[in-house]
Amino acid sequence: MKRKIITTADGSKTIQIEDWNEQYHSVHGAIQEAMHVFILHGLFCFLDSHKPISILEIGFGTGLNAFITLLESEKSNLHINYTGVEAYPVTQEEVDALNYTEQLKTNNTLFSKLHQCDWEILHHITPKFSLTKQQKFFKEIDAVAEYDLIYFDAFGARVQPELWTEVIFELMYKALKPKGVLVTYSAKGSVRRAMQAVGFSVEKLPGPPGKREMLRATKLEV
Ligand SMILES: C[S@@+](CC[C@H](N)C(=O)[O-])C[C@H]1O[C@@H](n2cnc3c(N)ncnc32)[C@H](O)[C@@H]1O
Repeated sequence: MKRKIITTADGSKTIQIEDWNEQYHSVHGAIQEAMHVFILHGLFCFLDSHKPISILEIGFGTGLNAFITLLESEKSNLHINYTGVEAYPVTQEEVDALNYTEQLKTNNTLFSKLHQCDWEILHHITPKFSLTKQQKFFKEIDAVAEYDLIYFDAFGARVQPELWTEVIFELMYKALKPKGVLVTYSAKGSVRRAMQAVGFSVEKLPGPPGKREMLRATKLEV
């Protein structure tokens, strides 16, 4: 499917799938959305963690979520083991057209490293942040009690309804450790009900600019 780079309202770029009129991030601000949903309401649940935090990302895409998590690991002194699952990796040309390092006023070396490192191998990107990129479909995820936190960042249910179902949330539930947390930008009622049906306790939280609400789901099992 044809992908095109566009600029969102906070000045940061994202990728658009033209045929679907769907973006990798909110058009109201890619960086703003990622910071709000995944860092503020996800990673910050683990600020007091003295152990390494294992994160699974559903849709590695542009690497923006991984990059801001890496930056946060330095700021907040957190050790993070990050796994990004992605079936259709972005190209080097697309990476070169993104402007996250300028927007975040950081140098490009670490962002490039996230993209240049090989798939399926664990890389120590910094002393605090390790990354494993796995090229596969979400339905193939078979982790059991491995992750503290899931960034659920699939394309919207409007275009990929099969990814917002009990079948997929069951895999997410299994992949989380007890008390593990899943965050997503979606606030759809059908999504919340699918999460609850597989056992999650679900909270509605204020959404990022341009969105009223988002969801955070917690695995209650101990
Ligand atoms: C909303 S974008 C993710 C944005 C990403 N988190 C970022 O920060 O750029 C959704 C991603 O899911 C990937 N994807 C779509 N369907 C998939 C599937 N069935 N299995 C694995 N990846 C898929 C897409 O290629 C895309 O990169």
